[in-house]
Amino acid sequence: MTDQLLRPTGSVAPDALAHVRDDFPILERTVRDGKPLVYLDSGATSQRPIPVIDAEQEYVTGHNAAVHRGAHQLAEEATDRYEGAREKIARFIGAGRVEEVVFTKNATEAINLIAYGMGNAGYLNGTEPTLTGAGRFRLGPGDEVVVTEMEHHANLVPWQELCRRTGATLRWFGVTDDFRLDLSDLDEIITPRTKVVAFTHQSNVLGTINPVQVLVAAARRVGAITVLDACQSVPHQSVDVAALGVDFAAFSGHKMLGPSGIGVLYGRYELLADLPPFLTGGSMIEQVFMDRSTYAAPPARFEAGVPMTSQAIGLGAAVDYLSDLGMDVVAGHEAEITGYALQELGAMPGVRIIGPADLVDRGSAVSFLVDGIHAHDIGQILDDEGVQVRVGHHCAWPLHRRYKIAATVRASFYLYNTLDEVDALVAAVKSGQRFFGVG
Ligand SMILES: Cc1ncc(COP(=O)(O)O)c(C=O)c1O
Repeated sequence: MTDQLLRPTGSVAPDALAHVRDDFPILERTVRDGKPLVYLDSGATSQRPIPVIDAEQEYVTGHNAAVHRGAHQLAEEATDRYEGAREKIARFIGAGRVEEVVFTKNATEAINLIAYGMGNAGYLNGTEPTLTGAGRFRLGPGDEVVVTEMEHHANLVPWQELCRRTGATLRWFGVTDDFRLDLSDLDEIITPRTKVVAFTHQSNVLGTINPVQVLVAAARRVGAITVLDACQSVPHQSVDVAALGVDFAAFSGHKMLGPSGIGVLYGRYELLADLPPFLTGGSMIEQVFMDRSTYAAPPARFEAGVPMTSQAIGLGAAVDYLSDLGMDVVAGHEAEITGYALQELGAMPGVRIIGPADLVDRGSAVSFLVDGIHAHDIGQILDDEGVQVRVGHHCAWPLHRRYKIAATVRASFYLYNTLDEVDALVAAVKSGQRFFGVG
């Protein structure tokens, strides 16, 4: 098996990930009457290594308190750990300032935070002392928000709603028949009317990696704000938000070895400083009177209420874990696994890959169809063999509609997957073809 491998990077340190599976207790378990677990659904959520589990436990058993409140020792320790996690994440993504990292519940909430904050700019009367620049976010009829046809619903529906509330128009880039973003009409879609360009870094269905710099440059030319959905990139490759030049980026902790219930919004400080709040209440304020309030500076303005503390600390530990391995090593390993999966699945009669067939500008989500078998039936057969994949439209319904597909099967890989697991996937697909008499 290894001999026939595409080895696209050639530079992957072969031993760097040799023992990584030992850190993930769940990978030892069996499913469906003793079958070894083959977990190929990290695009939906990843598994947690022991250092992440330990970090959460250490916090909860030794330091649990409400952060940013109280003058007692536990509150101080909790706050230090929570803010320490923010610093790690800021470093990990190349943010210029620690205050540019806002903790949210997940990426969906991070994107909603921007969209609602912008929507709220329409209601401000301009007198809020801390938000004199909020007008830059005000949208109305004649303004346009641009997305792409390959967006996850999380980076589509909030913009539809913002347009509905403000009277702005939603526009989008289509996708090509070879599963790339269609930028042939770049200058017709991004125009001086464009106020926001929101797009995914890597498609969670196709695996396609989009040309961030081209879109950022086009948005900059017309003064539009850029929002990067980095859910499928930050966990898998080195992402430097400052180098990419995006204004905002969103990603989820649970897709990058961290806990669920924690997401991150990155925002350029001068934009966050002008953005009105999304949720209001405790912690996000500067001064409160009976009839009015002023808002705290970022990131506090966007973290109303007691935050998800053990989750943030767990995410900090996940970032340490990934950094210790090196994101280049992680990306190289995934490229190797993905190349092999594309090669083996691509060679199977009756299997069609929905996404780029080679590794050029593509990540490790591999979606496919099997002729004559519904994706849900394939999913069930794979599950019977212990192979856990995602089936359906993967929260990207318009993209499936564009390709006239009801549902796809998606195998998504991460640092703990092996070439043997790709073989298990391929064998299970073959057994499905035999069962349905199509192979
Ligand atoms: C590209 C992309 N964007 C957004 C999301 C939403 O992430 P969450 O559900 O963690 O908010 C996902 C999750 O599948 C995703 O893959």
